[in-house]
Amino acid sequence: MKDARPTRITLRRPDDWHLHLRDGAMLDAVAPESARHFGRAIIMPNLVPPVVTAQQAAAYRDRIRAALPEGSRFTPLMTLYLTEDTDPEDVRQAHRDGIATAVKLYPAGATTNSASGVRDFDRVRPVLETMAEIGMPLCVHGEVTDGTVDIFDREAVFIDRVLKPLRRKVPDLRVVMEHVTTADAVDYVRDSPRNLAATITTHHLIINRNHILAGGIKPHYYCLPVAKRERHRVALVQAAVSGDPRFFLGTDSAPHSDPAKLQPCGCAGIFTAPNTMSCLAEVFEAAGRLNHLEAFASLNGPRFYKLPVNDDTITLVKGAPVTYPERIETGDGPVTVFDPGFALHWRVED
Ligand code: DOR
Ligand code: ZN
Repeated sequence: MKDARPTRITLRRPDDWHLHLRDGAMLDAVAPESARHFGRAIIMPNLVPPVVTAQQAAAYRDRIRAALPEGSRFTPLMTLYLTEDTDPEDVRQAHRDGIATAVKLYPAGATTNSASGVRDFDRVRPVLETMAEIGMPLCVHGEVTDGTVDIFDREAVFIDRVLKPLRRKVPDLRVVMEHVTTADAVDYVRDSPRNLAATITTHHLIINRNHILAGGIKPHYYCLPVAKRERHRVALVQAAVSGDPRFFLGTDSAPHSDPAKLQPCGCAGIFTAPNTMSCLAEVFEAAGRLNHLEAFASLNGPRFYKLPVNDDTITLVKGAPVTYPERIETGDGPVTVFDPGFALHWRVED
């Protein structure tokens, strides 16, 4: 009998709703990797120093555009890094002028370059209220930084201690819980009827904490929030493949040079930009939900951000295993590409 499973699917061009492009030589090397398949991306502002003001975001956007290949239509959607000194009027103006799409909240000390993040959430209330008024989304790194909380519990504790009270105080604020890693976060989003969505990364759909720690420590699987138990990964896959519009792709592709990762205190971040679409096609196919890949990667994000879907498409073709470079060379050193640990058969047609 003929196998009826598809070997070719066409989707609206996907977007990446959470991406680190860095700056300088690293930006030059990684921007083309995202621009190859994605139409737009929400660009993380955790540079050193961070992208705090509208003026800094506009300048960073120019540097990103300059790093794109000739003729690229890739659109960087900029974010402002929220600090306790952020001026609500600067945020309002950045939004009105089309410079910033969202604001990013890092609890101080939660992750890479987050020292200028928020310690006292009441001090940013005026900014959050302005954002609620103008309909500008807040992207949240949802982990507490309390050293007494186990690192595997930091997302779940953040929901109870920070996110629930914050959303009660500013109920009209539109919030994206970024890179969710737990069944707790999936349940919280599912139980919230309005103004809440979540991004899910490629790697959290594929790895659990054993990938990092069993059989030798694997720095290339280390990121924040750290991957959790298998039951959490399964909950993430169920959410991603469900078609539920509140879940969409944010790769959190976060390049660090190999020397920066492979050391006694290595950096957090996994670089998935080159092979994300191939990885996702495998995950959705294995779940029997290839038909929902377009919702997750191309439709649900624009719907939450109230932007049009991309006007062009990409086609994925199934065939012999596709290879991606193990690492890419950058002016800041080699960067290892995510290894899903299984063969990838889906290739994005040129
Ligand atoms: O793994 C991560 N890397 N998580 C983050 O939140 C930040 C990111 C980075 O900038 O390297
Ligand atoms: Zn990130």
